[in-house]
Amino acid sequence: MIACSIARGASRRICVHLARSSKATPNFLARPLSSTALCANKKHDPKPDPNEAATTNAPSGALGDHEGKFARTDKTVQIHYPSDREMPRQPVVQGRGGMHFKRTLASFSLENKVSMVTGGARGLGLVMAQGLVASGSDLAIVDLNKAEAEEAAAKLIEQFGKENPGIEKMPNVTAHYADVANPVSVNEALADVLAKHTKIDHLVTSAGFTENFDAIHYPFERMQKLWGVNVDGTYLFATGVAKHLMERKAPGSMVMIGSMSGSIVNVPQPQAPYNAAKAAVRHLASSLAVEWAGHDIRVNCISPGYMLTALTRKILDENPQLRDKWISLIPVGKMGTPEDLMGAVTFLLSDASKYITGADLRVDGGYTLT
Ligand SMILES: NC(=O)c1ccc[n+]([C@@H]2O[C@H](COP(=O)([O-])OP(=O)(O)OC[C@H]3O[C@@H](n4cnc5c(N)ncnc54)[C@H](O)[C@@H]3O)[C@@H](O)[C@H]2O)c1
Repeated sequence: MIACSIARGASRRICVHLARSSKATPNFLARPLSSTALCANKKHDPKPDPNEAATTNAPSGALGDHEGKFARTDKTVQIHYPSDREMPRQPVVQGRGGMHFKRTLASFSLENKVSMVTGGARGLGLVMAQGLVASGSDLAIVDLNKAEAEEAAAKLIEQFGKENPGIEKMPNVTAHYADVANPVSVNEALADVLAKHTKIDHLVTSAGFTENFDAIHYPFERMQKLWGVNVDGTYLFATGVAKHLMERKAPGSMVMIGSMSGSIVNVPQPQAPYNAAKAAVRHLASSLAVEWAGHDIRVNCISPGYMLTALTRKILDENPQLRDKWISLIPVGKMGTPEDLMGAVTFLLSDASKYITGADLRVDGGYTLT
């Protein structure tokens, strides 16, 4: 970085020097030393410098497509988070659990643990929850939509039974109501989970949602709701579980579901409050990781990229241009599936990641690298 700025400073000085000096340019400087040296000849060049013309100030179409257009938000893209009635249903994934016929490290096992997943009735939360059960954990699904959470719990058990015929002990999977943004509701849910499971070892905070409005027109109450669910909800469950672990003097670990939007700005859909909320989730994980490190409680973050859930499928089926644009920006050239998070969440909750805390694991097909 420093070397780079020194080099830039040096070439700028050369450029200024050349602009002021006489016409007799010494031979060793006849070829430009850097692209900035081109400016020495600018006055004499009747053609405009194409690199200078290619700025965001160039008129649209001056050099083909309008410069910067693929890296901008577009306020005409508006997506509302649907109501529960309009929400597409998510099937329980098939054939991913089951006994381990292939050898793997024992430290990945979550046997004899109790995991709680907020927002676990559907979407990424439900599939991650299945991964945890397949890895040996009991499970408490917590969701605003209790009916769907109960349905998901029943299907998950049914699927597990099919994949593990003759198993002696079925996992204990329960469903609970909570509005994660409401402290009273969170405390009631925690009490309910403890009544059914007696302990909680692991937490995954997946309850969250996004909406798209440009910042000037973002409805204030929607923004508050978004931050309430994504940020307050994560904080309230994390502190509630940490308090329980500290009282038990037990080790534990948590995974907060952030998003790549906490590190980059998505285009073309505008979503400033969501991006800021997910940046908050990521840094909350780091901050709590430090605060609770002495209690043997690990806190990590998973930042998914664009994932194909029932809801994103519906949005993209209705907006194929948006799908093409998103996929064009992902280095691996395809969206992720919820199953891609199963291993990541199991790893970060289990002893396989015993020395990892405060990390942000991006599961984004390389999106944030470019
Ligand atoms: N799908 C993606 O492409 C993607 C990408 C990056 C991050 N994420 C994040 O992953 C998480 C899960 O997203 P998803 O795509 O599975 O969403 P989803 O809408 O499919 O599922 C979210 C779940 O959270 C529940 N929920 C919503 N508000 C709640 C509240 N106040 N209290 C309790 N539960 C509530 C919903 O009922 C639902 O079951 C979110 O935090 C989201 O921001 C998703």
